[in-house]
Order: sequence, then structure tokens, then C-alpha cells
Amino acid sequence: MPLNMVNRYNMKTINIGIIGYNFMGKAHSNAWLQASRFFNLNSTPVLKVACGRNEAAVTAFAQNWGWETIETDWRKVMDRDDIDVVDIALPQHLHYEVAIAAAKSGKHIFCEKPMCFTSAQAREMLIAAEENGIVHYLNHNYRRTPAVLLAKQMIDEGQLGRIFHWRGAYQQDWITDPEFPLTWHLQKETAFAGPQWDLNSHSVDLAHFLVGDIKTVTCLTAQFIAERPLPGAGAATFSAGANSSKEKGKVTVEDAALMMVQFENGAIGSFEATRFATGRKNYNTFEIYGSKGSLRFNLERMNELEFFSMEDPEDWRGFRTIIVTEDSHPYISHWWPPGHIIGYEHAFTHAVADFIQAVESGKPIYPNFGDGAKTMEVLEAGLESAKTGQRVSIKSES
Ligand SMILES: NC(=O)c1ccc[n+]([C@@H]2O[C@H](COP(=O)([O-])OP(=O)(O)OC[C@H]3O[C@@H](n4cnc5c(N)ncnc54)[C@H](O)[C@@H]3O)[C@@H](O)[C@H]2O)c1
Repeated sequence: MPLNMVNRYNMKTINIGIIGYNFMGKAHSNAWLQASRFFNLNSTPVLKVACGRNEAAVTAFAQNWGWETIETDWRKVMDRDDIDVVDIALPQHLHYEVAIAAAKSGKHIFCEKPMCFTSAQAREMLIAAEENGIVHYLNHNYRRTPAVLLAKQMIDEGQLGRIFHWRGAYQQDWITDPEFPLTWHLQKETAFAGPQWDLNSHSVDLAHFLVGDIKTVTCLTAQFIAERPLPGAGAATFSAGANSSKEKGKVTVEDAALMMVQFENGAIGSFEATRFATGRKNYNTFEIYGSKGSLRFNLERMNELEFFSMEDPEDWRGFRTIIVTEDSHPYISHWWPPGHIIGYEHAFTHAVADFIQAVESGKPIYPNFGDGAKTMEVLEAGLESAKTGQRVSIKSES
């Protein structure tokens, strides 16, 4: 008997065009597919076009994920009248050009981080988005982890009191092997910088969200491996080792970055970003210490939030672990019963669901290009400080 496919198929549609089909291409495709199944949206996203340079590879991707059509030149996506949203899942050297073109074509933008190369580019992207009245979102997905949102709620309620310290560390180890090839992440032309851009962009976004604006930055960077084998055919993020060629090329970004910052509100903070922390895989952690209590988060245990309260009786005061999977916790009522944990991909679905609601309502979603411009200013100040050895003040124009 044919099922009565009401609701989802009778909903309004929002047509998506994704550019880039690898790691983020998959994470985003999954989120576009899941969002209207788990969230009560008035519109459903339609996977309309996937774009990549290699026709065979983008076709295979499109078939696997259910994208209706393909393009091999991203400019063609901008010219298509049937596309409402451009999803930028490309390396960051292309974000600026693609986002400006998308904004000028009146398409809403769902953009991967780091936003672009410079804060000047970021401000131009923001202006283009505002002038064309589109919804713009920058995918710092960790903001949409329930435990991070619970941390935000607790800070806003005053559970931590006055905040003294932010301690952020984003540590990975996937390029520790000197034979790991020179992928786009390790070249200035395509990545602009190393973990200062890739990882500290996430941490600075979280620090802005949870603690507040940053006013000065002091930074140290290091490069551990100066040359690497050129990538062979099929080299891909995190697993390219087997595909290296014998020829070598220069690594033109830093391998690790350490920042010390002063926040506008008097707190101080540190940020540690590296892809050389052996044993750490996606160890995105922060600790926040305040006059009344403290919080600790670790993405590798993303359903948990550690909390210490000075208001607990002295005898049994200590860090407790909150399992952030109750219906009352942010986003969780859309998923599973308590304790039936969620994972990395869920934050992408949360982002997509919020993004669709923003497109429906015309209201902004955060973080957006304005937040991204502020983050770029901090990261940029970090590189300047690492170069000059001086503390750098943020000259915010946003
Ligand atoms: N939010 C997150 O947690 C997260 C995680 C990983 C990566 N990222 C960001 O997402 C972006 C993409 O990273 P990734 O890991 O998916 O990279 P990737 O190397 O896995 O994929 C990049 C894709 O872009 C395509 N591409 C490159 N140049 C192109 C061009 N000129 N035209 C069309 N397609 C082109 C490649 O073919 C590939 O499909 C980066 O900016 C990265 O920093 C974000």
C-alpha cells in the first residue's frame, strides 16, 4: 500500500548548491538530509546541485548523497536561478571569492570556517551579504554542541560569577609524521596559516561566545617540519600518507600557535593550537574559571560538561560531570532519550536547522560574517605578534 507522504513532501523547499564534496561536503550533505527529519521546519532543504572540479568524483558524491545535478565550475552555481543557498565546503582560499559572488547573486550563504584570509576580506564579505540582504552563516559548529550551549546558559545565569580565566587548547596529531604530504592545509596560498587559522578560529569563536571580546593578543608560533612530500593522486585530509610522492615541497604555514589574550572584561586567556600533539585527535577543550565556579569541556567527550561550584558544601566540593543529554538541554529533545548520546555530526544538523529557520524568518543566525570578521582580527593580530614579538591591540572596525 503506498504511504501517504504528507508533511515533508508538501513543505516549501529551499534549494541548496554545495561547492566542495570531501570532508565537509559529506558532513554538510548529511546535515541537509537530516534537518527536516528531526526538526520541525516549515521548509525542507533540497539537495539540488553538487559542484567540484572532477566530474567523475563529484558525480559519485552526488549519487551517494542524493544531489540532483552536478556542476564542475562553481560560477555556474551562481548563475542558476533554481539555487537559494550556496554551501561553501571549500578550502579557505576560495571562501572570499565564492561568498562575494553568491551574495551578489542574492543567494544565502552557509560558509565553512576559517572565514577567509584577512579581516579586510571578511569585512567585504559582510558588506556584500548585508547589501544583498542575504542570510550569512559561518560554520563554527561547536557553538551548537549542547554541552557548549549549556555552558553559555550557566555563564549567563551567573553560575561562574566574574570570569578570570579562559584556557583553550585545540590539539590534533594528524601531521606529526614527516612523511605526511604537503596537502592544501600546509600551504599559505590555500590555507593562509596553519592551526592559528584552522583550529584557533574555532577556539576564538568559542571564547568570544562564552567570555567576551578580546582586546590584546601576544602570540608565539613554531614550525617543526619545513619540507614534506608532495601529495600523490587521491591524497585527502587526515589519511594522505599512503599517497605521497618522492618529490618534496616547502611547508609555508606554522605548525603550532600559542596565544595569550586580554579580554575587554578583564579576564585573561590562553589558546594552544597544534596538529603535533601525539595522541590527541580532535581534542578541542576549554576551561573557564570564575569567582563562583568553573567549567571544563572536551569535544572528545562532547556529551559531558564538567562543573565546579564554590556554592557546594565545602566538604564535598569538587568537579562534577553533567551528562548533557536531558530533554531540557539545548537541541536534545529533537534526538534520543537521556543518555543516548549524540556525536560530531549532530552540531552540523543543528546549524542547518537553525540556518533554514533564519532563511524562513529573515532573521540573522550566529555566528555570521560579522562574528567571523571579529575572529579574523584576533587571529591576524596573533600572526602579527608572532612576527614582531610584540603584544598587539585589536583594532576592531566591526
Ligand atoms: N567546521 C569544521 O569542523 C571543519 C572541519 C574540517 C574542515 N573545515 C573547513 O572546511 C573547509 C573544507 O575543508 P575539508 O576538510 O572539507 O577539505 P577537503 O580537502 O576534504 O575538501 C575540499 C573540497 O574542495 C574541493 N575544491 C578545491 N578547490 C576547488 C575549486 N576550485 N572548485 C571546486 N571545488 C574545489 C575539493 O575537490 C574538495 O572536494 C576548509 O575551509 C576547512 O577549514 C571545517
